[in-house]
Amino acid sequence: MGGPSAEREVSLSTGRGCADALRVAGFNVVEITLGPDEGASLPARLADARPDVVFNALHGRFGEDGCVQGLLEWLGLPYTHSGVLASALAMDKTRAKQAYREAGLPVVDSVIADREDVRAGHVMPPPYVVKPNDEGSSVGVYIVREGDNAPPLSDAMPARVMVETYAAGRELTTAVMGDRALGVTEIITAGWYDYDAKYAEGGSRHVVPAQIPAEIEAACLDYALRAHRALGCAGLSRTDFRWDESRGLAGLILLETNTQPGMTPTSLAPEQAAHAGIAFPDLCRWMVEDARC
Ligand code: DAL
Ligand code: MG
Repeated sequence: MGGPSAEREVSLSTGRGCADALRVAGFNVVEITLGPDEGASLPARLADARPDVVFNALHGRFGEDGCVQGLLEWLGLPYTHSGVLASALAMDKTRAKQAYREAGLPVVDSVIADREDVRAGHVMPPPYVVKPNDEGSSVGVYIVREGDNAPPLSDAMPARVMVETYAAGRELTTAVMGDRALGVTEIITAGWYDYDAKYAEGGSRHVVPAQIPAEIEAACLDYALRAHRALGCAGLSRTDFRWDESRGLAGLILLETNTQPGMTPTSLAPEQAAHAGIAFPDLCRWMVEDARC
């Protein structure tokens, strides 16, 4: 847990929660908490810990993008969640979209643009969204509405960013556990589901199961499973959607798949598992038993 990514705090929360749950499930747990610049110490710390399985509680760059997965492959250590290629694909929003399109899954159009061009003027007609091509937890996301000026992107944004047609509608999400889609949750927020709404207690309201037509529920389950397979994911993943109900099934858009979904007290995947009858320690136990390399 920990590491250098912008989602470091989320990872610490995920890691602590999962470590506690794994102890409840009867495992002998060694916590490895990485400071932002301690990545190089990881092989030695793994050698000391001599784990049977690595529970990957990292999020974002280095932890969710195939990097740590490659290291664990080298070391021959089974690890939870997706492997190198699926992690790298899912982290690159543009390439993930290509895989979804090839699988016949609905996504919105996007382009990769220079940060300076995005600041200088609209690179597509509003409404649109600007985001890093490879971050999670809504870090660095700008929504540009009709009538807005070009977005004042922070210098912390990457030099190349993704600009995507804004998909209006209700926010839905589906977790996949191996070959089973667990359900559909609707996320209700006062504004949009940004970093604070995601992780502050009471920052959003989750409706599980989502109160949506059976056709939309079935489509979310189907699309999430197909997205998981199209990227080649393993273990737990979570796919996020927007649904513009005025357009029926055609209004359901796949936003992205998270290969290391949050496991914090406010996170969606564990909550959905609980509603499917899988308590948090049992979910974590399944992830360990499902681990591979
Ligand atoms: N990126 C965060 C951790 C999530 O998808 O839950
Ligand atoms: Mg995400």
